[in-house]
Formats: sequence, structure tokens, C-alpha cells
Amino acid sequence: MNVAEIRDAFPLLSRTMNGRPLIYLDNAATTQVPIPVIRAMEHHLTFENANVHRGSHLLSVEATESLENARGAVADFLGASSSDQVVFTSGATDSLTMVAFGLAHLLDRESAVVTTQMEHHANLIPWQRVCAQTGAELRVVPVTSEGELDGQAFHSMLEDGRAKIVALCGTSNVSGCVNPLPEMAKIAHAAGAIVVADLAQSMRHALRPLAGTEVDLIAFSAHKMCGPTGVGVLAGKREILELVHPLRFGGGMVDAVTCEEASFSGLPSRLEAGTPNVMGIVGLAAAVRFLEEVGMDDVAERERVLTASLVDALASVPQVQFAARPQDQVGAVSFVVHGCHHYDVAAFLDAEGVAVRVGHHCAEPYVSALGHDGVIRMSTAFYNTEEEIARAVEALKRTIKRLEVAS
Ligand code: ALA
Repeated sequence: MNVAEIRDAFPLLSRTMNGRPLIYLDNAATTQVPIPVIRAMEHHLTFENANVHRGSHLLSVEATESLENARGAVADFLGASSSDQVVFTSGATDSLTMVAFGLAHLLDRESAVVTTQMEHHANLIPWQRVCAQTGAELRVVPVTSEGELDGQAFHSMLEDGRAKIVALCGTSNVSGCVNPLPEMAKIAHAAGAIVVADLAQSMRHALRPLAGTEVDLIAFSAHKMCGPTGVGVLAGKREILELVHPLRFGGGMVDAVTCEEASFSGLPSRLEAGTPNVMGIVGLAAAVRFLEEVGMDDVAERERVLTASLVDALASVPQVQFAARPQDQVGAVSFVVHGCHHYDVAAFLDAEGVAVRVGHHCAEPYVSALGHDGVIRMSTAFYNTEEEIARAVEALKRTIKRLEVAS
């Protein structure tokens, strides 16, 4: 991979922050956007902006074509057999809320939902709400002291056959822990459960997410794979997507409507009420094409290599205590610094031009289980360099020295 050439495609990476060259290590929150994606969205707005699936004029036909081509590109990227299996949403949070409420009709007092202590709030709170409404039992797989899922607990939560849904992340946004989705999906299916995977943090290293994992439904956001914010996907097996009842109602998703009732169209439009984020969808497809052009095998490999380098570099700082030590780790590395508050560390790093995220990362139960009220997270993407990692860790060492002197 020619990293210098790739970095040239990301104008933002060469800006400064607080007067220093930017070192962007907040990729688990949002990745940067390359020029081809910016240009695709600009082209759409400049030349073909119109509503989709509704107009009889040429502009609307062209905008609709762009949207449906985008759906095809995303379906190919995922390894889906048909583009009907791709539903556009406003992001992973939206997708997961749609799934939880859309599958609530399968749940009752006799049933259970299995999720995990590692989840982002977006894959926990909707299940809490739906279980409270339906009377289903919420079972939460605990994590080990290494920050991995407790496999034994997962097995035993499925033993009585009451679990109708298993909802878990492919990769933790806090620790970068990669869960063994294919194996876990097999166990869940044997117990009769539907498997929902939050792949928000997995998309740059899960090579063909639908073809490879045997999960039933997946959710992800464009903005963690070099696309824009405000757009994402719910995708999966057709027969399972068909079980998802619409959560939103309005234009674009109906067959026939009278004053008394409505009937709904087929997939994917029945789950896409209202005018979609066409510009964002065009941007998502451009991001997918960009990643494929770089080469997904290379992207995935480089993400792993950079994560390992970051772990090694941080391990050389005596005051650093890793929040988790998962065996399979990609993208995110979280830690605390002995004797320094995480917010102080982030403020000093910001002044040095190093962008990181601190806090509970919208995964409060996980961070608490790891024994912290907040952690510092550095998260890499394929366009980062080994030199940036070294400079970020040097900045961290200076930060620690300053904070130690101050205290
Ligand atoms: N979920 C995103 C993160 O982990 C925003 O930072």
C-alpha cells in the first residue's frame, strides 16, 4: 500500500490543529473523507439534486439511478446476493433501533434477548426498552478481565432455548476487541436465535460482512468507513429483514393508503420512509468504491498492523495501563495513565495536535466493568503512519511529565 499516495486523497490529514501538524487518532469516532467521496457528493448536489422514487422528470430519474446504483455497490461490497437486502438508514444507531423495535413482535414474557456488556449504548438501550415493553428477559454476557466476552456465559445464556435474538458487536469501539462472530452466530442459530451484529467498528476489516459471518442482520455507519455522517445501512438475509416491522411511516414505503389503513411495499422501501439522505448515500457508495480501489485485503491488514504498533508503542510508557488486552484487537486501543485524569491528558494532547477521545465512549457498562469511569482511546485507520504513532506517544510522554510536575 502506498500510504503517502493514499494520504494525499485526504486533504484534512495535512491541516494543523492548535498550530501543530494534526495527528488524527480518533478514527473509531469518525474516519476522514477522501477527495473522490467529496467530489461524488459535490457532483450529486451540483448536477442531479432532486427527490428520488417520486419524480417524473429527468433530474429525479438521474438521482434515483444514482441512489439505486449506490445500493448495488454497497450490496456487492457486503457480499449480499441482491441489492434489496440493503436498507439505507441514518447510521448504525438508527439501524439498531429499527431492528429492536421492528422485531419486538417476536418477543414476549417467555422469551429472552441476549446482548453483551461490551456493546455501544446503541446496541444495548434499544434492547432494554424493547424488553421492558414486551416482558422479555434481557441477558447481558459479561466480559472477562481481559475485556473479552465470557464465552462460557454466552453458551449458558442460550441453553434453555428462550433467546429469540442475539445482538452483539463485531468489534468493540472501546477496546478494539474482535468477537468471533462466525462461531457465536453458529451457537446462536443452533439455539434458534436471530443474530444481529453491530458492525459499526468492523467495516474496515470485516472483508465481506454478509458473506463471511453467517449473521442475520448487520448495522453500520458510513462515517466510520471514509463516508459522510448521517447515513448508514441495515442489511441482512431477506427472510429476516422481512420480519422487521417498519418503525417509521410516510412517503415512499406504501402500496396503498386509505383514510383508515395502509399496506406497505416490499424490501427495501418499506423500511425507508421519507426522503432519504441521497447525497450521503452517494457518498457512502463512493467510499465503498474508494476502499475497494485501495484494496480491502490491504486495508484490513494495515489496520491490524497499525493497531499492533500502537499497542507496542504505548506499552513502552510505564504509566500507561491498558483498559483491556484482547487477543484479537483492531482499530481502538484504550488506556488510563497512572496519576493523570483522562480529560487532562486529552487536553494536553489536543494542544500538541493529537486528536484522541476520552470518557466512556458511549459504552458505559463496558468501561465500568473494566474498572474505570473513563479511558483515553487512540484509534488508528489505514491512512495513519508509524511515524504518527511514534509522535503521538512522544506527545503522551511529554504530557505525563507536565501533569506529574503540576500535581
Ligand atoms: N461511537 C463512536 C465512538 O466510539 C462515536 O467514538
